[in-house]
Amino acid sequence: MSRAVRGFAAAAASMVAAVVVRDLFQRKHALLRNFPLVGHGRYLIEAIGPELRQYIVAANNEERPFTRDQRRWVYASAKKENNYFGFGTDNDMEYTPGYPVIKHRTFPRPAPRSAPKAAQEVELPCAKVIGAARNRPGAFRPKSVVNISAMSFGSLSGNAVEALNRGAVLADCLHNTGEGGISRHHRHGGELVFQIGTAYFGCRDAEGRFNLDRLKEVVAGAPVRALEIKLSQGAKPSLGGLLPAPKVSAEIAAARGVPEGRDCISPSRHAEFSDTDGLLDWVELLAAETGLPVGIKSAVGDIDFWYELTDLMRETGRAVDFVTIDGGEGGTGAAPLIFTDTVSLPFQLGFAQVYRIFAERNLHEQVTFIGGGKLGLPDNAVVGFALGCDMINVAREPMLAIGCIQAQKCHTDTCPTGVATQNAWLARGLVPDVKAVRVANYIKALRRDLVKVAEACGVEHPGLITTESVDILNGRNSSTPLHDVYGYKPGMGLPGAGDREEIVRLMAVEEPEGGSAPPSPSAVG
Ligand SMILES: Cc1cc2nc3c(=O)[nH]c(=O)nc-3n(C[C@H](O)[C@H](O)[C@H](O)COP(=O)(O)O)c2cc1C
Ligand code: SF4
Repeated sequence: MSRAVRGFAAAAASMVAAVVVRDLFQRKHALLRNFPLVGHGRYLIEAIGPELRQYIVAANNEERPFTRDQRRWVYASAKKENNYFGFGTDNDMEYTPGYPVIKHRTFPRPAPRSAPKAAQEVELPCAKVIGAARNRPGAFRPKSVVNISAMSFGSLSGNAVEALNRGAVLADCLHNTGEGGISRHHRHGGELVFQIGTAYFGCRDAEGRFNLDRLKEVVAGAPVRALEIKLSQGAKPSLGGLLPAPKVSAEIAAARGVPEGRDCISPSRHAEFSDTDGLLDWVELLAAETGLPVGIKSAVGDIDFWYELTDLMRETGRAVDFVTIDGGEGGTGAAPLIFTDTVSLPFQLGFAQVYRIFAERNLHEQVTFIGGGKLGLPDNAVVGFALGCDMINVAREPMLAIGCIQAQKCHTDTCPTGVATQNAWLARGLVPDVKAVRVANYIKALRRDLVKVAEACGVEHPGLITTESVDILNGRNSSTPLHDVYGYKPGMGLPGAGDREEIVRLMAVEEPEGGSAPPSPSAVG
């Protein structure tokens, strides 16, 4: 080998080494920290992806669960990059039955709030005060209509949980613990909704039984604002939580009180109640003992439960403070395919059925409704609000914001971006304080889009968007108003009159921001 060639090889080797070292210690990209050098391949492919796909592979709207367009919107929003799309829609609107269309007003009523000053920083509190109808001492108005959905420490890495919790602080929103209890990664200032699953992780005794004193201790020792009893989750109803053996690390085992390295399976049902009556007793007990609002999370299958629940609420005065409905299209860390694909109704259908039952019994204004199931995308969220959601929970979308590339290996402990793994090396790639900012940016971008759409529909807040503002296309030649699709009567989907008045007052701005120029003298005259 000539000296020149040897010199060239040495220079190339030191360049490679320099890139590896830089990749290992930079803090922005988990993929490069975990896969120095080779990780660049992903960015190259991402960069030339549109061209490759256009000729060879898939279109912008073909990937699932989240299409490339949807992911690009989340990634760009999270990085505060340009999240606009050029040239117009590439969706086949006219030929896609079920496609929702939002009907803007020609002369919208309220002063525009979202542009240009408020923009990303727009405040968007919930239109209802959770727990107010039942006078819970801890009743409160959530500061954000978009909140982080239940995902336990176990299914997610400690660094991912920390990033979400810190992101919740920056975005002023709530962070649901998931059913794995409160870990040290949840303690970075974000306000929590404590989820109580069937295994009572975080509030159980050594034998695995629910322990009220433990719950009270946990709640007193962390910024917990509400309790959520998990009945079921859209991706795997009737199954308990499943944390596969490779993810049961020593830290998780200690936090949950289970053996290390063995599948951690929660029971499929609660031991503290076995029917709807018992559930309501337990809700009242937890609310009385902790002072907090108490709600349930459920997927929608058999509808009789909801009739029974609302009948009992009406007859006995016992009640849940909030209801979280999770769509069958929702996410999970791990579940059997038959359950993720086929068990429980998709969000819109399930939510509308449940909401209608509450509304027909005149209970809908006293309960806060929360929706989940790909609602972290503005178009889905708007339909959710029109159907009666007061807030939405988002899970996989903030996972995307902290680096998830939709590799769908969450159940294997080999998540390449450190989001859904307990592998210390892979989790190290995810730098919590950097990703926290991305979570907050994403949530703020979603809130801003929601305000802009509300404004286009002529109302001050997404919770005031009615079913009249949404049509569902039936294909090329006709559309059906959302209220006809789901059998809503006039007024359904809205908060009560008092709550509407209050949220309009809260959203009001002294000076109209952005929007139109002052009227000309002739227009005024
Ligand atoms: C990794 C992962 C872990 C989850 N863990 C829980 C959990 O502990 N408890 C729960 O009720 N739901 C859990 N979920 C469901 C989410 O909270 C949410 O309801 C569902 O994914 C729908 O929201 P999305 O479409 O925005 O992801 C989990 C979802 C994912 C992706
Ligand atoms: S990158 Fe893949 S394995 Fe990791 S969280 Fe996302 S989908 Fe799951």
